[in-house]
Amino acid sequence: MTVSMKTAAVPELRKTICSSAIFQQAMAQEHHYDTTLGRHSVLVYRQALRICKALEKKGIMTDRRCITVASLCHDLGMVGRKDRYKNNLECCIKHPRATLTEAGRLIDDIDPKTEKAILSHMWPLGVRIPTSREGWILAAADKIVSTAGTVHIILHMLPAKQKHAGRHISPLR
Ligand SMILES: [Fe+2]
Ligand SMILES: [Fe+2]
Repeated sequence: MTVSMKTAAVPELRKTICSSAIFQQAMAQEHHYDTTLGRHSVLVYRQALRICKALEKKGIMTDRRCITVASLCHDLGMVGRKDRYKNNLECCIKHPRATLTEAGRLIDDIDPKTEKAILSHMWPLGVRIPTSREGWILAAADKIVSTAGTVHIILHMLPAKQKHAGRHISPLR
């Protein structure tokens, strides 16, 4: 089932994406060692909404349709990454373009701003620079969520490392 980006309300766009078969696959695919691709996408969506709300409090309006489609779909091109790409570098470079194909199967008439936001979401790891407010919000939200996940992993590794280090500084006891 597809919906039109021009006419569908945000809840309908959200429901169409999250109930799709590819999003369900994303919910089951491991991502960044401690989460799934689908969960990551939902967290990026929520983070992007937080940024939108903060901007709106300052009178800066954002396009919620664009944010919804771009953030929930931004990594769908990574679903089945082991079969799609030879290695992580190829995945990093090519998945934004593959995402457009996958998103186009769910949403009709995705507007150019949303397409560009998806294509530039890897910035600065990717060469495409965001060209809209929503594109910058998506790129920032993706980095915030990914960095928070990495910090979470490191913090969970620290106690074991500290225990190990403790054994080397204990001879004074
Ligand atoms: Fe990505
Ligand atoms: Fe991402």
